[in-house]
Amino acid sequence: MKLIETNSYEELSQQAAWKIISLIKDNPKLNLGLATGSTPTGVYKKLIEDHQENKTTYKEINTFNLDEYIGIPKKDPNSYHYFMCENLFDHIDIPLEQTHIPDGTAKDLEEESKRYESFIQEHGGIDLQILGIGQNGHIGFNEPGTSFYSRTHIINLAESTRKANSRFFESLEDVPSQAITMGIASIMESKEILLLVSGTSKAEALARLINGDVNEQFPASILKNHQNVTIFADKDAIALL
Ligand code: F6R
Repeated sequence: MKLIETNSYEELSQQAAWKIISLIKDNPKLNLGLATGSTPTGVYKKLIEDHQENKTTYKEINTFNLDEYIGIPKKDPNSYHYFMCENLFDHIDIPLEQTHIPDGTAKDLEEESKRYESFIQEHGGIDLQILGIGQNGHIGFNEPGTSFYSRTHIINLAESTRKANSRFFESLEDVPSQAITMGIASIMESKEILLLVSGTSKAEALARLINGDVNEQFPASILKNHQNVTIFADKDAIALL
C-alpha cells in the first residue's frame, strides 16, 4: 500500500480527484467503483469543478457503488441513490443508466446480491475503486467478522456504524439495520483502489491498518494483500502513525 499524506482534507480531495481524472483520461471507458459517506464528497466536488472547467467527460464511464441501505426507496434523501445524484451524477455528463447501485428495495435481496455481483463481472470488473473506511475497519459495509471470500451480500450493520451514520438521519431508530454491500472478494478484484481517510476519528483505524496484521476482525486489513492500493490521508488521520 502506498500512503500519500496531505496537509488538509481539501488537499486530500484535490489529489485523489487528480488521480481519478488522469485515469479517466487514460481510459474514457473506465469502470469506476464509488463510495458514499462524508469522506468522498470533497473528491466529488473537485470532479464536478473539473468537469465544468476542463470538460472531462463521463459519457462512456460506468459507475458501480459499493452499497445501499435495505428498505430505503431510491427517492428517499437518505438513500445512497439519492446521495450519488446530489453529490455527483446530477452535475456531470454521465448517462444515469450507466450508474449502478445495488437495489436495497428489491423483493428478493439474495437474488439482487447475485445479480449485482454478476453484473459487475459481465461489465469486465472494476478498474478503479474508491473506498472510505469505518472506525471499526469496515470497507463497503463489510463489518468486522465478514469473510474475506464474501461476494455481494446482505449485512447486519454494526451498532457503531448505525450510530456513526445516524448524523444523516433524524434519529438513531431511523437508521436501517441492514445494507446490501459488495463483498470483500468483490472489492479485492478491483484493478486499483484509492482509500480515502480523513479526520481524527479515523486516526486509530488508519494506524491499525498500517501497523496491524491481516485479520477478518478488521476488514480493511485485507487491502495489504492487494497489489495496487493508494491511501490518501490528511494530517488528522495520520496523527497516530
Ligand atoms: C460508504 C461505505 C462506507 C464508508 C465508511 C466511512 O459507501 O461503503 O464504508 O466509506 O463508513 O464513512 P464516512 O466517509 O462517512 O466516514
